[in-house]
Amino acid sequence: MPVITAPYAFNESRLYVDLEPIFGRRLYLKCEGFNFAGSIKLKAANEMVESAEREGVLRPDSILIESSSGNLGVALSMIAASKGYRFLCVTDSRCNLSTRLLMEALGSEVHVVADLDANGGFLGKRIDYVRALCASDDRYVWLSQYTNEGNWRAHFRTTGPEIAEHFPELDVLFIGAGTTGTLMGCARYFREWNREVRIVAVDSVGSVAFGGPPGRRMIPGLGMSMRPPLLDESFVDEVVRVEEADTIRTCHRLARRGFLFGGSTGTVVSGAMDWLARHGSRDLTTVAIAPDLGERYLDTIYQINWLQDLYGDDILETEGITPPSAAAESVTRTPHRPSS
Ligand SMILES: Cc1ncc(COP(=O)(O)O)c(C=O)c1O
Repeated sequence: MPVITAPYAFNESRLYVDLEPIFGRRLYLKCEGFNFAGSIKLKAANEMVESAEREGVLRPDSILIESSSGNLGVALSMIAASKGYRFLCVTDSRCNLSTRLLMEALGSEVHVVADLDANGGFLGKRIDYVRALCASDDRYVWLSQYTNEGNWRAHFRTTGPEIAEHFPELDVLFIGAGTTGTLMGCARYFREWNREVRIVAVDSVGSVAFGGPPGRRMIPGLGMSMRPPLLDESFVDEVVRVEEADTIRTCHRLARRGFLFGGSTGTVVSGAMDWLARHGSRDLTTVAIAPDLGERYLDTIYQINWLQDLYGDDILETEGITPPSAAAESVTRTPHRPSS
């Protein structure tokens, strides 16, 4: 029975979903959303804060500052609240409302950047904003998840070894790429392992992380509007790119089987299923990583008006999924039958 005193001390690391009954292909999904920060970013946040403390960069009067699309911001809010630091999160207008409210509930200050950068993303503008604040007051400590080695080291120390312990016969690992901390930490770990593992990075169409033209991306977490400074492509065997419409359909397919995951999980599972369809999966042991759960996306990915405005009225129909509002309507229109 785990008993904790600090919220960052608990993280469920042994939970996987077998996706074969839902998608008909063998894939185990490692669930990283079961901790008090609700996402995999707890691991990077812990590692980066602890190393800043060890190096004496973080002092009692420091103000942590970070650019985050949400999940790292929530994890840092939680750690800062627990350890008594102030925290300012610089996010953008694509950050979910519930994520922002969560950070504020934990006592953090949240600044929202609304200007797009030249690649059609917000990252460049968010980083400019952080730099300007750091220049204005030397109490600010910027952990800089995009360049901080602690970001990938967290996964080299935890996520990689956890998967290796649970799947000693692992053949292929699918990892979504944002800052590429998860990707680089796991890829470096498995490069040194006793067995060859194929590392497949999953990115969203419109992200420029691995090259390719920039484009509109509405789902936070995966994809970058600049090349990730932590990325070393020599550790990556393959890159799979996923359209946001496929991400959405995969999220809803999982939800209709009772598994409510976040958008990046939809992207990773969609990319993995596509890869498995092309390569055949019968004899392979394959794992994908689910970075968070779906409750933070109820007003976006799981909201029919948001979906139809952005992706068209038929977004869910190709999979035979009844849109949520239509389902609700059909319930209210069902005539009452006399009870027998
Ligand atoms: C929901 C979600 N998925 C995936 C990622 C990407 O992880 P990483 O930054 O380690 O590449 C993030 C990062 O913030 C995230 O919040």
